[in-house]
Amino acid sequence: MQPLKEATSIKHNQAERMPFNVRMFKGLLKKNEYLLYLNQQLQLFQAIEKIGLPHSSLKRTEKVLADINELKAKVHTTDFILKSTQQYVDYVKSLTYEQVLPHIYLNYMALIFGGQMMKKVVPSSGNMYIFENMQEAVQSIRALQKDEWAEEVNKGFDYAILMFEELEVYCASLGEAKNFGKAG
Ligand code: HEM
Repeated sequence: MQPLKEATSIKHNQAERMPFNVRMFKGLLKKNEYLLYLNQQLQLFQAIEKIGLPHSSLKRTEKVLADINELKAKVHTTDFILKSTQQYVDYVKSLTYEQVLPHIYLNYMALIFGGQMMKKVVPSSGNMYIFENMQEAVQSIRALQKDEWAEEVNKGFDYAILMFEELEVYCASLGEAKNFGKAG
């Protein structure tokens, strides 16, 4: 059986190349756009964290809220939840703790690895990417991770890709609306 990272690398590349992600990585997101993204991340982390986490340092809800509040003080926004986010959240809510673990690997490792580069370029303090006891937090996931998770992790990547697609479309439509992004 292929190692998990290898078995999910095609989808990782696909997610990495999504235009919204590329703009984020290049530091090109406006505050409103990043705020919209944070609102989606919040829904997902709340759903996962209600089920459970292998280590308390992984908890993201309060960190994401801190970033959201920081940006809300600066730009006008909606608390809009995208259809793709709702679909992923509904799916996550149907899972047991054992079943949600591949999604913890996917969404928390994303912040720990790619996220450390994002932290420097996003238009907020980047609390979401800060982990106390980072080593222990990573270890708690690594200790559980199984190559058998590949299919479920790839399913999570598909949800994430849909979310990035919808984010880009929504941002484009908002960008056309009067005043959107001017303050950001
Ligand atoms: C511009 C966007 C992204 C960049 C630049 C990026 C970059 C990276 C890097 C450099 C690593 C470490 C690879 C290594 O150990 O050799 C990594 C790992 C990882 N990334 Fe990303 N990433 C991005 C987006 C994402 C997204 C959107 C997700 C999922 C939603 C994700 C999930 C993961 C996971 C699960 C790992 C851990 C793989 C493992 O070591 O088992 N990444 N990423």
